[in-house]
Amino acid sequence: MSEPAPDRYDLYERAAQSPDMQARFLRALHEAPAGEPVTLGEDFCGTGAVARAFLALDPRHRAVCVDRDPEPLERLRRLAGDEPRLAVVRGDAAEADAPAGIIAALNFSIGERRTREDLLAYLRAARSRLVEQAGAPGVMVLDVYGGTDAFVTGESEVELRDGVRYVWEQRHADPLTGMVENAMHFLPAEGPELRDAFVYHWRLWSVPELADALAEAGFARLAVYDRFGDCIDDAGRVYPWPVTNPDELDENFVVYIAAWTR
Ligand SMILES: C[S@@+](CC[C@H](N)C(=O)[O-])C[C@H]1O[C@@H](n2cnc3c(N)ncnc32)[C@H](O)[C@@H]1O
Repeated sequence: MSEPAPDRYDLYERAAQSPDMQARFLRALHEAPAGEPVTLGEDFCGTGAVARAFLALDPRHRAVCVDRDPEPLERLRRLAGDEPRLAVVRGDAAEADAPAGIIAALNFSIGERRTREDLLAYLRAARSRLVEQAGAPGVMVLDVYGGTDAFVTGESEVELRDGVRYVWEQRHADPLTGMVENAMHFLPAEGPELRDAFVYHWRLWSVPELADALAEAGFARLAVYDRFGDCIDDAGRVYPWPVTNPDELDENFVVYIAAWTR
């Protein structure tokens, strides 16, 4: 009998996400005292892996997940089960209105807003959803890649467990428009290959472009991080430290931008 085709969402989560650390990082960026419950809005959530990990951190945390694609939301609902602390919304992230203390748009999803007008409309909507929780301001968190090869085409490859090779391809890049096309391929040692498992045509915003847009959308201050934090304490807290000197960045980097409402 032939091998069953691997689930592309399972492969995606293994290749592109570290939900537990991402959840701890997001909680650390929220300035409420440790132990206070917070609501996470995961926009462009896909399968909501970060929200699921966030709920697992504290039995009083809540989450609201938004995506326009019903397919990953179906997987999210199946994996989350009957979880009363989770709301799942199918629709455009720019039209979401559920309040949250943290809003995250991760894995370069901000590139789905391809024009400055669309970017600002989304950031303004997110800003208006952010509420104070446990006396701390709301925080919006985005990630983006950049560096010397940001507009270079090519492939990079890593091996996942079980010998599956994961290939990230940038097959088109236009530095004049900022548009890039990325594809994710999964090549198991045996069984069928999953080429073009996910394909994205999106805008590669720069850090300063996003910083300007966040300020224009009403955010009061921001910081940039190139890692989750170098240590984790006995209570599972991480301690993120922002990058302030560009010499600290790798030649090619992925950074998180956090922006607070005050
Ligand atoms: C790169 S995936 C990110 C998934 C997840 N956030 C992560 O960290 O891996 C982008 C997701 O954005 C969703 N999406 C694209 N445009 C959207 C929009 N306007 N509103 C809501 N979701 C959108 C897609 O369906 C897809 O699931």
